[in-house]
Amino acid sequence: MSTWQFEATDEHDTERLAAALARLLPERVVVGLEGTLGAGKTRFVQALAAAAGHDRSQVVSPTFVLVQEHLGDRPIRHFDAYRLRDDDEFLALGVEEYFDAPGWSFVEWSDRVERCLPAERLDIRIVVTGETSRRFELRAAGSEAEAVLARLPAGLTR
Ligand SMILES: Nc1ncnc2c1ncn2[C@@H]1O[C@H](COP(=O)(O)OP(=O)(O)O)[C@@H](O)[C@H]1O
Ligand SMILES: [Mg+2]
Repeated sequence: MSTWQFEATDEHDTERLAAALARLLPERVVVGLEGTLGAGKTRFVQALAAAAGHDRSQVVSPTFVLVQEHLGDRPIRHFDAYRLRDDDEFLALGVEEYFDAPGWSFVEWSDRVERCLPAERLDIRIVVTGETSRRFELRAAGSEAEAVLARLPAGLTR
């Protein structure tokens, strides 16, 4: 397990972090996103999707549909566990198959369905520190995710 923090002063910083992460994420990865309503979980997935060549406007909060899929060279699955009743409802979405398939799986409110997530993953908690500032607390478990985290600081560009 390794950790790293990033202080974003504004959305531009959030974009920089997402762009750097998008360059490093492996073909198949599960990323858990924690943080209060409005912290920026969806905004961060939008930035990652855009960095991977998806149309950012297509990435909207999956709060009501529970999962959104964006196909292409870099498939993205975007889950939101906020409204789920229990683990079974999450598993019924077929999450285990999604997690095993090539592509990036992002899970908003991942702390609510932690037992359903693979042990090897990247967790990102977004903490609101001001109107436009956020602290990103990253935790990597497993050698692949830990390698991503180790390379991330050097991958940040202005
Ligand atoms: N540095 C920042 N990073 C991300 N979002 C930010 C930042 N500063 C302000 N915001 C705003 O915070 C809101 C985050 O909303 P959203 O991504 O939907 O939150 P969540 O999915 O965590 O509920 C957006 O309106 C976004 O414009
Ligand atoms: Mg959201």
